[in-house]
Amino acid sequence: MADGKAFYLTTPIYYVNDAPHIGHAYTTTAGDVATRWHRQRGEDVWFLTGVDEHGTKVERAAAAGGVTPQEWVDRLVADAWLPVLGTIDAANDDFIRTTEPRHAERVQRFWEVVRDSGDVYSALYEGPYCVGCEEFKLPGDLVPGTGEFEGQQVCPIHGRPVEQLAEENWFFRLSAFSDRLLAHYEAHPEAVEPRSAYNEVMSFIRQGLQDISMSRSSVSWGIPLSWDERQVIYVWFDALLNYATAAGYGADPESADGQRFARLWPPDVNLVGKDILRFHAVYWPAMLMAAGLEPPRKVFAHGWLLVGGEKMSKSKLTGISPEQIIDTFGSDAFRYYFLRAITFGQDGSFSWEDLHARYTAELANGLGNLASRATAMVGRYRDGLLPAAHDFSPAEQEIIDALAAAVPVADAAFVALDFQGGIAAVRELVEKVNGYVTETEPWALAKDPANAGRLDVVLYTICEALRAIAVLYNPVMPKAMASLWEQLGAAADLGPIAEQRIADVAAWGQLPAGARVTKGDALFPRIDADA
Ligand code: ME8
Ligand code: MG
Repeated sequence: MADGKAFYLTTPIYYVNDAPHIGHAYTTTAGDVATRWHRQRGEDVWFLTGVDEHGTKVERAAAAGGVTPQEWVDRLVADAWLPVLGTIDAANDDFIRTTEPRHAERVQRFWEVVRDSGDVYSALYEGPYCVGCEEFKLPGDLVPGTGEFEGQQVCPIHGRPVEQLAEENWFFRLSAFSDRLLAHYEAHPEAVEPRSAYNEVMSFIRQGLQDISMSRSSVSWGIPLSWDERQVIYVWFDALLNYATAAGYGADPESADGQRFARLWPPDVNLVGKDILRFHAVYWPAMLMAAGLEPPRKVFAHGWLLVGGEKMSKSKLTGISPEQIIDTFGSDAFRYYFLRAITFGQDGSFSWEDLHARYTAELANGLGNLASRATAMVGRYRDGLLPAAHDFSPAEQEIIDALAAAVPVADAAFVALDFQGGIAAVRELVEKVNGYVTETEPWALAKDPANAGRLDVVLYTICEALRAIAVLYNPVMPKAMASLWEQLGAAADLGPIAEQRIADVAAWGQLPAGARVTKGDALFPRIDADA
């Protein structure tokens, strides 16, 4: 971008109390698709993800596993959290662990700055705490329990009773930021999305904010406060800072880290699930204001993947691992399915039947079949060399126009994190091209040499449209689209697919005549319903 500011997008850093499930993979996939799209717009992009390793929840999981917290997190990060990024094909630029010195040192420095500004003081905290959320709960937050917890007040997210805390803590003067937060969000309604999340945040702030503990005296697995080493920094006030510490906050401005911080700050999107909206849209910007840093430009809270109508979760053992799906359907179908089937920002239920049905209809029979027919026909009728095309008819013009119309729609949608809308724009183009193949019947044209020129035009049009489709779908399905790119023989003239620009994609006639077209493996092999 002209001002030297990179497009900086983050995912939450996930707790390593256990291995990832598809809920975590969902957020990371969305972030990966968005950042790949921005890269193809030619922007400087930085995509950060990572893990949250401190706090009671992780400490207790380690104890139950009979190892130290450090051993526990080291093992889970190496065996599960890093590998899952490869499994879902995420192209993150950095991975932050909160046990890294670069994080711990900068977190300590940050809180010194806030203390020096007068927004930290010591007091007694008494009240409920949910270890599942790692959150001090307010009276209105709890709901009546059911089943084994009938008659008790429970956390609405975890469905379990909370613990009562009474400890001497350091407090963050959150109450001082109500007016500034309201003014900020009134001036920047796009800073919390979707709209339902914005409204929820505004009404929470309008109720008046209470000061909140920023340290814990009864927890030992965390980052010590530099001015009171008997206490560790409250896990959320350590974790939220990852977005700043990983970017280079607190480093010498002349150093590489310091320069990266100047290039990245503030985040363009902090992508989160709606379970952690309040932390990101209330506490986090207030912390940044206290330290004199700009708040994120946007916090986007997506919905939950549901199982049996409830949030899929590690603690309820309702998690499905990404591998369970990807082993059968592949990473591209995983990425496509969750962004295609669920409106980003709303809840959605996962079902194997729906996954299989969409995979078969839209990927195997839709795009996959189109690509295999196209490459097979160029092989059969033109010895695998893309013919030159002359004399486009209105039927071809319709494809050219449909492409030109689809690009701005897809671009606006992906930039707005409307993945469903972005995919729909490309899918409609695929359907249009499939319709074109049915109407023009190239296999019939091939029967009469008198139609050779017309057959050239039809084959060229299908392949050239696939060239554009490959580029537009590349952020969503990078493996299959790299294969399609290969099969179209596009790389020799046009270079790598990831370097194709969205702004140029609609320009017609980029695949050169003579391109070597090969029918490779099926992009989306058919899968038995009971596989
Ligand atoms: O909250 N549906 O970590 P966490 C959709 N460490 N997304 C889901 C999901 C579901 N059923 N379950 C989890 C934490 N997620 C903190 C975050 S950030 C500074 C600290 C995703 O392991 C979603 O993004 O509980 C959710 O917000 C996040 O995982 C919570 O992961
Ligand atoms: Mg959670």
